Parts: sequence; structure tokens; C-alpha cells
Amino acid sequence: MKMSKATSERITKEWLQEEVAFVLEKVERNLNSFTDLVPTAASVDQVYQPEENTDWTASFWSGMLFLCKELSQGDDFDHVIDHQIGAFQHRLDHQIALETHDIGFLYILSALADYQINGRESSRDMALEAADLLMERYSPKARIIQAWGDLNDPEQRGRMIIDCLMNLPLLYFASRETGDPKYREAAYAHAKQTQTYIVRDNATTFHTYYFDTETGEPLYGKTQQGFSDESCWARGQAWGIYGFTLSYLYTGDYSFLETAKQVADYFIANLPEDKVCYWDLIFNDGSNEERDSSSAAIAACGLLELAKHLPLTDEKSQLYQSVALEMMAVLAENYTTKHTPQSNGLLLHGVYDKNTNKGVDECMIWGDYFYLEALTRLTQSWYMYW
Ligand code: GLY
Repeated sequence: MKMSKATSERITKEWLQEEVAFVLEKVERNLNSFTDLVPTAASVDQVYQPEENTDWTASFWSGMLFLCKELSQGDDFDHVIDHQIGAFQHRLDHQIALETHDIGFLYILSALADYQINGRESSRDMALEAADLLMERYSPKARIIQAWGDLNDPEQRGRMIIDCLMNLPLLYFASRETGDPKYREAAYAHAKQTQTYIVRDNATTFHTYYFDTETGEPLYGKTQQGFSDESCWARGQAWGIYGFTLSYLYTGDYSFLETAKQVADYFIANLPEDKVCYWDLIFNDGSNEERDSSSAAIAACGLLELAKHLPLTDEKSQLYQSVALEMMAVLAENYTTKHTPQSNGLLLHGVYDKNTNKGVDECMIWGDYFYLEALTRLTQSWYMYW
């Protein structure tokens, strides 16, 4: 597939400047509401409410602040960044709602980003402490990181989920920083189990998969947020594109890049006309189901990162960039809140969890983050927080 002329003409330097200006202004307007508190995971009637830093999604706001700082090259966001970093330290010190593998999401887009950008040693220490906590969720028998809940909860015991690929960079970082290989080994083992059991033969993915933590035996796949156990939840597939690429980057295991390509190819082959996926890839145009713009934004970042690591001779590199650009052009034009001034979000038409009717056709805070990350990737050379 070639990028249509119309799309390539739309993504110009001026176009990007306008998009970035829109986003910076929108985020800047939110600074007073979300100084110590953070936006809820999903909006209600397109408006996020302020809440305490207790959800798995709290760091998408700080991640956005770091991106805005980089894009604006100014200090307008520093004051709120400082407050947010303080809140993440408090959460870690008091272990507030950290019985989750999403310690990765939480401390990559706060402590790690802060260490990278501001060089604060206390943030490096915070990231390493968070990595230790994440390691407690690793089962050496099953060779997976348990996703949710208490490690002895029979409902959650031995359950891994595809989303966790995005949490692994915290462990890769910890091995690089400390020289102790145990973090990297756990992350690598988890990524391998994800590749073997979560990715099906046709390159679709289960959302979650259970293992017996006593014997290490793989048990069965099950969905949580997808349409069915056998369908392909769009966001899981998007996490897979980006997440396998990251594990390739940090381990050099080329098979992860191959898997990322297969998962990307399935994602692309099942996009609707306008290239913004429905919430489960089982659905397409005419289904009357909702889109999930947040999955499109994650996939755009994943495809851009994946394309970077392919050899020049790999024709897929051009395809992945083209599709990412096309998705960004459509998202900017038809899915942003430019014409919804009452909204404090960036990206409309996301789905959090259709099965429980949570955040359906709303703004998702991670959708906003990844939209901003993709814009940053298109605007400047960007050093990943992941
Ligand atoms: N990691 C949870 C989600 O993507 O909804």
C-alpha cells in the first residue's frame, strides 16, 4: 500500500506546527485542574475529572507534560511536572494501588521520563524501586509477570496480558542501570511467553493468558476487554506492535521484530476505510460498533518505531510509516476535540471497556498521550521514554 497523495500532502511542517499548537494550548489549559490530581482514565461526556493518583493510567498525564515540555522547549510545564513527580514518589512510598504490572506504565512515564529529561537522581532511584516492586510479580515457574491483583488471588493468579509488553522497558532499564541481569531476564522470559502463547498462529492475539504457577504449565487464553476469547481486541494488537518492537530493541532478539511485523500486518489488514480501527478487529465498517481512536494512536507510535528498526531493503518499512501517517492525518482531522471546545481531552471516540460499558465513545487519557507521542515523533527526533 502506498500513502495516498492527499495524505502525504497533508502532513507538512506547517500542518504539524498547527497540530502541535492545538495540543499545547489544550494541555496548558488543563494545568490548573491537574496539578496534584490527574485526569480520570476516561472522560464522561468528553470531560475528564480530576482524581487522586491511584489508577494505572495516572502517568499518561505526566507523560504528556514531558512531551509538551520537549515540544515547546520552555518551562511552562515544569511546575506541574514537579508536583506530579512528587505524587508518584508518594504513591510508591506508601504502595498505593500498586498490585499491578502497570507499575511499568506508571513509572516509565513519570520517574524514567523525569530522569531522562531533568536528570534527577531521585527519579532514577524511584524508577529502580518501582522495578523491584514489579519484579515481585514475576513467577519463575510460569516465566510471566502476573497482570492484576494479589499474587494469591485464584482469579488472577498466573494471568498475563499482552498490555504488559509496555511495562517491560522499566525492567530493561533497571538491568542497564544496575548491571544486574535479573530484571532483563524476567522481561525477556515474559516477552517470550507472550510471543509463544498470546500470539495465535494467524498473528491475532489473546488479551490474557493463564498459566499454572505451581507447574509452569500454560493453561488457556481468555479475553477481558475484547469481544470474545477468540476475537482480537484492537488495543491488545496495538500494544503488541509497539511492545514486541521494544523487546527487540532491548534484547536484540530478532524474532520479536518478526512477531511485531506479523501483528502489525494483521492490524493493518483489518482496518476500516478511514484507517481508525474499531474496538475489536472482528468489527469493520457496517458493524455499528464504536471505533477506538486510542488503539489507532498506540498503533501509529508502534508502527513508526517498528519501521525504524527494519532494514532499508524491507519494503514493509515504508508501508508502516505510510499507514501511521495516514492514521495521524485522519485522527487529527476527524477525531480531535478541535471542534469540541467544551472537552478537556485531545482525542474523541475511544473505548475503554465495551464489555462493562466503561468509557465508550469517550476520550481516553492514554489515547491523548499516544496521539501526542506520535505528533512528537513526526515533529522532531525524539528519545523514547519507554
Ligand atoms: N491496559 C489496559 C487497557 O489498555 O485498557
